[in-house]
Amino acid sequence: MNKLFLIAATSALIGSASLAWAAGDAAAGQAKSAMCAACHSADGNSVSPDFPKLAGQNAGYLYKQLTDFKSGARVNATMSGMVAPLSDQDMQDLAAYFSSQQMSKGETDPALANAGQAVFRGGNLETGVAACMACHGVTGKGNEGAKFPALAGQHAKYVELQLMTFRSVSRTNDPGMMMRNVAAKMSDAEIKAVASYVQGLQ
Ligand code: HEC
Ligand code: HEC
Repeated sequence: MNKLFLIAATSALIGSASLAWAAGDAAAGQAKSAMCAACHSADGNSVSPDFPKLAGQNAGYLYKQLTDFKSGARVNATMSGMVAPLSDQDMQDLAAYFSSQQMSKGETDPALANAGQAVFRGGNLETGVAACMACHGVTGKGNEGAKFPALAGQHAKYVELQLMTFRSVSRTNDPGMMMRNVAAKMSDAEIKAVASYVQGLQ
């Protein structure tokens, strides 16, 4: 009896905690996504590496980024202009839509594959870089519940830029400084190698 009650209470709690973004409607999001397509493409698989792929990214992470651009917690002039007219419901719907798409495949530069894989799986013991897979998953698919983004298939150029901005502390919206602490200890060569490696993960 007690056990059953606990299970029911726990799932009710989990249910309400995820409501914040689970309320997104993918079909409504698609209808609102026309203005995103110019940069991110209609299905969220941007062609230019200057724009991140959104397809298949976890919805909780996407919604958090949109609200962070809106509040100024994540600073980007282009994206803050894009989210300005959006309501909370719009952002939930857009996150649900892009999340429901499939991330397209990319490639790893063979010359960087070994070095990139070493950082992704093991970090760097000497300098204290944490292994990426501890949070982003063995295959780079991220963690929906924890809002850790998927990296698999993401454009290397974009991944590299984000690692640089965490390192230079111009991106500061990572909870608990999780990414700033990792990036602070990374060399340029490690950043380049791991970015190329994750682009080829599927
Ligand atoms: C004019 C080009 C442009 C348009 C249009 C645009 N974006 Fe972006 N978007 C960007 C750029 C550039 C970035 C990367 C910002 C950075 O480096 O921090 C970005 C980043 C994002 C991110 C963060 C992705 C991540 O992996 O962290 C999300 C989410 C996003 N855009 C959603 C949208 C949505 C939804 C729309 C439509 C309402 C939209 N964007 C329209 C250029 C654009
Ligand atoms: C302790 C957990 C943790 C570890 C270890 C970690 N990350 Fe992250 N990472 C995060 C979180 C959390 C975010 C999302 C921050 C936010 O909410 O904006 C993130 C975001 C990122 C982003 C931005 C993604 C995007 O779409 O904008 C990149 C790139 C990234 N991590 C790469 C790495 C790499 C490469 C490593 C290994 C060298 C690594 N991370 C290790 C937790 C971690």
